[in-house]
Amino acid sequence: MSNKADGVHETWNSRWTFVMAATGSAVGLGNIWKFPYIAGENGGGAFVLIYLICILVLGIPIMMAEVLMGRWGRSSPVHTMYKLVDEIKAPRIWHGIGWMGVVAGVVILSYYSVIAGWAIHYLLQMASGNINGLDGAGSSEMFAEMLGSPRTLIFYHSLFMVMTMFVVIAGVTKGLGRAVRILMPLLMVLLLVLLTFSIRMGDFPAAVNYLFAVNFSSLTGQSILTALGHAFFTLSLGMGAIMVYGAYMPEHAPIGKTVLTVAGLDTLVALVAGLAIFPIVFANEAIVPSEGPGLLFVSLPIAFGNMPGGIIFGFMFFALVTMAAWSSSISLVEPAVAWFVETKKATRLQAGLAFGLICWLLGLGTVFSFGAWEDIRLLGLNFFEFADFLTANIMLPLGGMVMAIFVGWMMNTNTVRDELDIDNDRIFNAWTFVLRYISPIAILWVTLEGLSDIFGWPWLSLLNLFS
Ligand code: PFF
Repeated sequence: MSNKADGVHETWNSRWTFVMAATGSAVGLGNIWKFPYIAGENGGGAFVLIYLICILVLGIPIMMAEVLMGRWGRSSPVHTMYKLVDEIKAPRIWHGIGWMGVVAGVVILSYYSVIAGWAIHYLLQMASGNINGLDGAGSSEMFAEMLGSPRTLIFYHSLFMVMTMFVVIAGVTKGLGRAVRILMPLLMVLLLVLLTFSIRMGDFPAAVNYLFAVNFSSLTGQSILTALGHAFFTLSLGMGAIMVYGAYMPEHAPIGKTVLTVAGLDTLVALVAGLAIFPIVFANEAIVPSEGPGLLFVSLPIAFGNMPGGIIFGFMFFALVTMAAWSSSISLVEPAVAWFVETKKATRLQAGLAFGLICWLLGLGTVFSFGAWEDIRLLGLNFFEFADFLTANIMLPLGGMVMAIFVGWMMNTNTVRDELDIDNDRIFNAWTFVLRYISPIAILWVTLEGLSDIFGWPWLSLLNLFS
């Protein structure tokens, strides 16, 4: 028998609330904003395929491991790791999983909030009617105007940070649980409305071909690493967000099924978002798939500006994007806030305010990286790109990898089995095999290939080493 921990936090009132909250965390800017533009930057089909494989082979098994650790420890990732390490007498270095999560969450939220701010700005643009009859050039201009105004960016970044902290401070069931139950289904409905528009008015066949026709020649080590990183980013994996939500999960809810539901919904939203955006991209010469972070913001307003009722749909769409970002952002600081509260050095209010301020300040780096600091570069990347690369492509996969190793190799198999509650031996053994061998090897390999490609260090590439 293990000394399963009792938590100090409230638990969700049903498995369904966990599904909604975890989906709320998973579905966010990653699906609607980031997935389409990185698919566009990395050549489409082959990238999408690698991303789907990463979700299936690495993301889902590691998500199960992360939920399991959280439910076992019933506390913030930092303290869950302390308890787990104590329980199995593992070396203290494993505490690093919790700490790395806190740092990754804070850094991601800093830029996430700036981008969510764009969505709020666009929501108001829709309402103002500025988009009537918008064409590709007009839309690009509108986007550039926003990026060129640090004041606008800072204003909406601040607003979004206040919104995030408001829910975080309100607490687990009252704040987080309630917020996501209505938003997610509504978002899906609106994406389907957009999809219908794109099928009728955009170049749908070109979009399908772009996203699903696989051509491996455009794939590089760097794009494989981006696909891997995005699988972790989009599922909120590898930094303890899912672990801390797992800590609030009821005792006997089945982890496997629950995780499959969350990952399935997340993937569905990303693909539908892609299929709604690319037909518009291909129908407008002023926009190219490799447009970058502005892709969503320059393509969709054209659709809204030219469809009946577009102002209302546009308003609703960006409102929902904001809300999807909102339900993700709260999970980004939850590991940090939960940890701080557990140390009894702060109340939820104080912890929320402290981390909100840190993220806000850090976010200014992203704001200026679109303007005045554009040329300040580290390893060729500006502040925003560097923060994104470091967290999504390095810290999250690495976090996921060490979690897989911890659960696969270090934890007691009976404890793991009890917690997971899988009767089928074959499924359990396959899952353990993936955690023990496939995940660590695959993540390490992809990371090394990606880094060797990006920084031109061929000695890092295992392919080169053996050729
Ligand atoms: N999964 C979120 C998205 O796709 O937008 C982003 C995210 C949330 C990443 C929470 C990591 C995390 F812990």
